Amino acid sequence: MPPGDESDPKPTSQATSKGLLQALCGQRTEQTPIWLMRQAGRYLPEYREIRSRVSDFLELCYTPSLATEVTLQPVRRFELDAAILFSDILVVPHALGQGVHFAEGEGPVLEAIKDEAALAGLDVTQLRSRLAPVYETVERSAAALRGSPTTLIGFAGAPWTVASYMVEGGATRDFAQAKRWAFERPELFERLVDLLVEATASHLIAQANAGAEALQIFESWAGVLAEREFDRWCVQPIRQIVQRVRAAHPRVPIIGFPRAAGLGYLRFVQHTGVQAVGLDPGVPLQWAAAELQPLCTLQGNLDPVCLMVGGQSMDAAAWAILESWGAGARVFNLGHGVLPATPPNHVGRLVDLVHAWRG
Ligand code: CP3
Repeated sequence: MPPGDESDPKPTSQATSKGLLQALCGQRTEQTPIWLMRQAGRYLPEYREIRSRVSDFLELCYTPSLATEVTLQPVRRFELDAAILFSDILVVPHALGQGVHFAEGEGPVLEAIKDEAALAGLDVTQLRSRLAPVYETVERSAAALRGSPTTLIGFAGAPWTVASYMVEGGATRDFAQAKRWAFERPELFERLVDLLVEATASHLIAQANAGAEALQIFESWAGVLAEREFDRWCVQPIRQIVQRVRAAHPRVPIIGFPRAAGLGYLRFVQHTGVQAVGLDPGVPLQWAAAELQPLCTLQGNLDPVCLMVGGQSMDAAAWAILESWGAGARVFNLGHGVLPATPPNHVGRLVDLVHAWRG
């Protein structure tokens, strides 16, 4: 099947002066735009100060004054081209009625969905009202950024990644429960994934309604599925989400991030219809430039450890990425989120280096 023929036409240009939006819509910009996944977070002392005012991480996500402040912190400190909404991918299961909390030092803990009855208890009709504080954060952040060159990015987790947290009850190494469902009772797992397609599309559309100018879909666990399952549980659901969001907001570009998908990146780009793709650090640069960049904008892919280490090795790795991109559209980012031990001045140095580069 020829590339892209399954997907709807993508918006190709934007009447905008924002370099990031131009790049996401396929234009080659003179300066390379840069933002970083997890650019708000524990590596910033000003984040830790605000975090210490609330006992619970979700309370921070649901308090618009604080969440807006945290959203804006990185763009006040650094000349990043985007602010990403401060929230989490797990607010969606929480808004569907699942118990979710963040234990200190342990990561997320969810009341695992174990059977059909638990699945039937999830309620998508309350999603928008329960997530109203998140949309208020988007509105406040958009208002604060109005007239600036900074783009506001909204986001959600992809169905497979979110479903795996919902079924496993938290982080997992082998995804045994989620995969077991998918293999043993695919029709039941499909019900969960379909529900998440609806919830995720609704959540992304509401963020765009509130002022998000671009959207990223995080498929953090794309890399653990075999080819057929990758297609069924990652590519197809994301394609449906992209179609729904695009019908409501045809001019809002969508970035897909199928982390660790390997050669699956090509199918992902060909069949989901995303305008841009986030590359993890393992994606070979020349392969991405040759195979993916003709189809969409590339975003990535510095190793977060390299940013943490900084110095000459960071500069060299960033240069290698910048040099690999040829004449196509690109956005600089990490291959995964900023690590908490990262010295903030390394971020400042990286932003300056990327902005100064001309190729
Ligand atoms: O990028 C940003 O700056 C925006 C905010 C954001 C957070 N989480 C804040 C957060 C975004 C985009 C996310 C996405 C997210 N959340 C993903 C996908 C990206 C990825 O990392 O693969 C996933 C899988 C989650 C789920 C999640 N949230 C986990 C596993 C954890 C615990 C691990 C950790 O880093 O602590 C969280 C908590 C979380 N989400 C924190 C932040 C800043 C740390 C919590 C704290 O400050 O106490």
